Amino acid sequence: MTRIGAVTGGPHAAILGLGAYRPSRIVPNADVIEAINSSDEWIQQRSGIKQRRWATPEETVQMMSVAASRQALERAGLEAAQVDCVLVATVSHLLQTPAVATAIAHELGTDQAAAFDISAACAGFCHGVALAADMVRAGSARHVLVIGVERLTDITDLADRGTAFIFADGAGAMVVGPSDEPGIGPVVWGSDGEQFDLIRQREDWRDVVGTEDSPGSGVMPHLVMQGNPVFRWASFQMAKVAQQALDRAGVSIDDLDLFVPHQANMRIIDAMARSMKLPPHVRIARDIAEQGNTSAASIPLALDRMYAEGDARSGDTALLVAFGAGLAYAAQVVTVP
Ligand SMILES: CC(C)(COP(=O)(O)OP(=O)(O)OC[C@H]1O[C@@H](n2cnc3c(N)ncnc32)[C@H](O)[C@@H]1OP(=O)(O)O)[C@@H](O)C(=O)NCCC(=O)NCCS
Repeated sequence: MTRIGAVTGGPHAAILGLGAYRPSRIVPNADVIEAINSSDEWIQQRSGIKQRRWATPEETVQMMSVAASRQALERAGLEAAQVDCVLVATVSHLLQTPAVATAIAHELGTDQAAAFDISAACAGFCHGVALAADMVRAGSARHVLVIGVERLTDITDLADRGTAFIFADGAGAMVVGPSDEPGIGPVVWGSDGEQFDLIRQREDWRDVVGTEDSPGSGVMPHLVMQGNPVFRWASFQMAKVAQQALDRAGVSIDDLDLFVPHQANMRIIDAMARSMKLPPHVRIARDIAEQGNTSAASIPLALDRMYAEGDARSGDTALLVAFGAGLAYAAQVVTVP
């Protein structure tokens, strides 16, 4: 039997740089309430959202990703040509194929880096970080660019009371590479496909286009969500997943500096923090108030705000927890760059 050569990477992986892109258009609650017969007070009380960012036509998935990535690379002190793989977590790149990651890798000027998209909805970014860390340690890539990006406004029915005030647009990116010390803890991830229908694209493209026998709907298959069960699942189950991620990393809750959960809803964030008995010194990401729920982009955007407001410092220990459609989830402890 022929022996196949093997490679191994560096012993450890870490986040080397973070970048973010927030769309230019700020949309206060006052601008969404009419279409959904709601009020600023109701939205703030139920979700904690005061305003969100919606992309203009020029702020495409690719454009926002490239901007966030350039910032992440600059902060990591790396050139695009040093990136071996580009992973893009998104559900709102509306071309079924090819992966938007390939266009982003090209526009950035990578040297034909491997590039593919990850479909794990709001949990996609933490899936990407886990894959990137494994690639770096296994030797299949030295530097991996992980991007979380969404233009959820393209797939949200702005007249739907259950989703129109929540979803928003933006992009975040992290460079993952080798390091002397472990900077990304073991991932705890999973999925509960029994709850597949709780957050989903309403129908598939065949139902939109139709067949000879049945005419298609002809309308964009927007996201639909059963908010209440999602709320209950996230509030209770994700605190357990968070604790498992701490245990697997050998980090006690008292060692944490930052808690950066997916920015789904402020009440879910608060419920998780209570359930986990998060000590008061742990600073909690609350980007959702100003940014809305940007699905795969929400964790890097939230961490970016913590830096900007002086709540996060290089070397801090952060717990990331992401969850969403699928229902898919992933959590890990990381050292912030
Ligand atoms: C969407 C969400 C804010 C709705 O809050 P809720 O408390 O579950 O709301 P309900 O659907 O039970 O409706 C409660 C009441 O508010 C009303 N309501 C629903 N949507 C409303 C809106 N947009 N504006 C005003 N009132 C609204 C309902 O009609 C209902 O009224 P009633 O009590 O008179 O019957 C909440 O379920 C949620 O945040 N879920 C998690 C969603 C999430 O984070 N998803 C992302 C995961 S990735």
